[in-house]
Amino acid sequence: MFTEKSNSSLSLNQFLGQFEGRKIFYANAAHAFYDVMVGLQQFRPKQKPNIIMPVYIPAKLYRFVLAAGYEPKFYDVPTDLNLNLQEISELIDDQTQAVFAVHFFGIPVDMEPLKEITAKAGVYLIEDCAHIMNAKYKGKILGTTGDFTLFSTRKMMQFHFGGILVLNSEPWKFKPSQKKRVNSLFFAYHLLGSRIKFRVNNAMSRYNLTRKLSLPGTGYINFSEKHVVHVKMMDHLSEWYCKLIDLDKLVNKRRDNFLFLLNTIEDHTFVQPLGLDRYATKDTTNRYSLNKGFAPFSMPVLIPDGSRDKVQKALCDAGVICFIGWPEAPFEEKGFEGAEALQNGLIELPVHKYMDSNQLKKIVDCLNTLPENVKRPHHVNTSEPIFHLT
Ligand SMILES: Cc1ncc(COP(=O)(O)O)c(C=O)c1O
Repeated sequence: MFTEKSNSSLSLNQFLGQFEGRKIFYANAAHAFYDVMVGLQQFRPKQKPNIIMPVYIPAKLYRFVLAAGYEPKFYDVPTDLNLNLQEISELIDDQTQAVFAVHFFGIPVDMEPLKEITAKAGVYLIEDCAHIMNAKYKGKILGTTGDFTLFSTRKMMQFHFGGILVLNSEPWKFKPSQKKRVNSLFFAYHLLGSRIKFRVNNAMSRYNLTRKLSLPGTGYINFSEKHVVHVKMMDHLSEWYCKLIDLDKLVNKRRDNFLFLLNTIEDHTFVQPLGLDRYATKDTTNRYSLNKGFAPFSMPVLIPDGSRDKVQKALCDAGVICFIGWPEAPFEEKGFEGAEALQNGLIELPVHKYMDSNQLKKIVDCLNTLPENVKRPHHVNTSEPIFHLT
């Protein structure tokens, strides 16, 4: 019903061919990020190097920053997942090596004004496209603005490994710190395992077989330990396999799934899509369409009133696992209102290509029939059970 027609196709090689700089295939995007930070320090050493980055990030990235010997200087992430340019520019000082900016969950941000700021200040811009591939915003291919761009084939193609560093600028002759690759057998083992898991999960959910799904774990950071990164490069099999994937098909499937959820979830005051004005338009009949070039990773929504965990549990009971961003962020940092709201209220509705129509309908049915006591937990009569869903 909400399907967009398209017969185009685009391979990874064709996609990357649109970038002029060198491309380097890593075991994952975070390894590339680490190597850029280390390389920058060798190229122009600073006594106490810092990187300006969002405080709403996975713990893994924080650990990698510490392992590279940098101090993170955090900026807040508002609930529309956009950039606060003023806040970022005020953080830049003479020890700043780079600014790190993220297209969270595929919701695009305009990198151009940020690039102007970093270029003027003489610091580098690292564009995190881990949640984006084959996307455009304001007519520009996302990933082409940063001096260094990170892609994650691991995340976008649902592999266990895989990240790509694109050097849109190469101020020094960049060389990965290690040559060693991941073992291809590992990749094959995990690929097979994950594909079986998706199929079994969909089948179980379709036939309502009894099963127990568990909620995903949470990242962590232990500030008392020394952080070390063992960089690896992408294995041969992933490198070959990811080039076979049709990126247009992959993105179109995600867009169709996204559009279905956006147009069928009824209460957008309770399930609030984030950054909506940057990727969708509403017509006179109140139907949304997605902007050209939008390539979602998941559908991030905010659930108010402290109900997020109950909604996640309800979806899990209905047979759909949803991530909740990075509940470990903003770590021990204080005073970041946006990140705290995301920490407590964000949930990612899955739109990846292994979501079948049955799974999508389950999400919608579950969200459209949440009982009032879940939606307004502060008004719950404590003698009633908090929450039941079938
Ligand atoms: C926003 C963001 N950036 C970068 C990364 C790192 O990507 P990878 O898992 O390929 O190292 C992740 C991974 O979770 C991420 O969520």
